[in-house]
Amino acid sequence: MILQTIEMCDCTDKKVLIRVDFNVPVKDGKVGDDTRIQAALPTINALLDKGASLIVMSHFGRPKGQKNPEFSMAPIARRFEELLGKKVMLAQDVIGPEVEAAVKALKKGDVLLLENVRFYAQEEANDPEFAKTLASYADLYVNDAFGTAHRAHASTEGVAHFLPSYAGLLIEKEVKFMAPLLSNPEKPFVAIIGGSKVSSKISVLESLLKTCDTIVIGGGMAYTFLAVQGHAIGKSLVEEEYKETAASFLKQAEKRNVRVILPVDHLCGSEFDEKTKAVIVDGADIPENLIGMDIGPKTVKLITDALNGVKSIVWNGPMGVFEFDTFAQGTLAVAKALASSDAVTVVGGGDSVAAINKFDLADKISHVSTGGGASLEFLEGKTLPGIKALEKQA
Ligand code: 3PG
Repeated sequence: MILQTIEMCDCTDKKVLIRVDFNVPVKDGKVGDDTRIQAALPTINALLDKGASLIVMSHFGRPKGQKNPEFSMAPIARRFEELLGKKVMLAQDVIGPEVEAAVKALKKGDVLLLENVRFYAQEEANDPEFAKTLASYADLYVNDAFGTAHRAHASTEGVAHFLPSYAGLLIEKEVKFMAPLLSNPEKPFVAIIGGSKVSSKISVLESLLKTCDTIVIGGGMAYTFLAVQGHAIGKSLVEEEYKETAASFLKQAEKRNVRVILPVDHLCGSEFDEKTKAVIVDGADIPENLIGMDIGPKTVKLITDALNGVKSIVWNGPMGVFEFDTFAQGTLAVAKALASSDAVTVVGGGDSVAAINKFDLADKISHVSTGGGASLEFLEGKTLPGIKALEKQA
């Protein structure tokens, strides 16, 4: 895929409408993890350096088309201003006369942040009139909202039909790291896929099967695969309706000569509770009174050995219930193994990124994606509408 990037755009003295993903955690009026704001700064600074004025837009939460102060961009605007180190004006609306006046008054180097684009139902409906109104504020459109690129909304896809459109540096970087994993990864290539449900990860497993040499399956979904192989899984999570899918995946992997690593031992508890006592089960079979809640030490060794000397690793989804400290060991071990690997390492998905941040290892990973749903859909091989709209016409 060839994208039109901001290096190609002349935006001196131009008004640029830029879509970012500032959908960040906010508590008591304060931004928590500001990674997504920081990730947009290179593009914002590059555009300002080129002499543009900026109209920045984002969604925050899911206000369902209603103007709800709980979802105002105000706390985000404050953090954005601090991180950018220059004045950020916050518009009180997304469209309308007040916004038009603020846009008209913009001078070179000014930054105007619009209110939450999801205050209008037309945003998620990708309403062309709404997109046209947004587009009318600017000369150019830049999309740097990778985290929202899987949504065909007015601010992520619609506006691209009305303005010359470019990919920001974050989208460019996300694509640069993730696209090769689906086409020509440096080999050997290992994918580590965890999480609780087969149903939400089967598409990514099937997609990665085409380019991987080894696939590690961990987290709650591993028990459905173990059950299919005839192992006892005790009281662990199982998706009966996905057993056939899991069996067919294992067959496909065998056919393609892809090694699948499933847990060979476990850390279990008798209740799904933070305070439950952790018990090591030294084998793949889990006694009937126990719940599998993390991978065991032998599995950790199996995974770390499999990562030895490989050239590419992608990780999506925790290995166990990592939000309970007692059951975070497997996920921590995987995070550390990636951090100390010489391979190109890519981490995507909300939970595994949260784990990497919890263990403070982000700077040791080649690329930590800012997309949760977006990175998963990208790795599933789906076309992301927000990115498609930026493709260069041959
Ligand atoms: C995210 O946090 O995954 C993105 O900002 C998209 O948000 P959404 O799932 O509400 O569309």
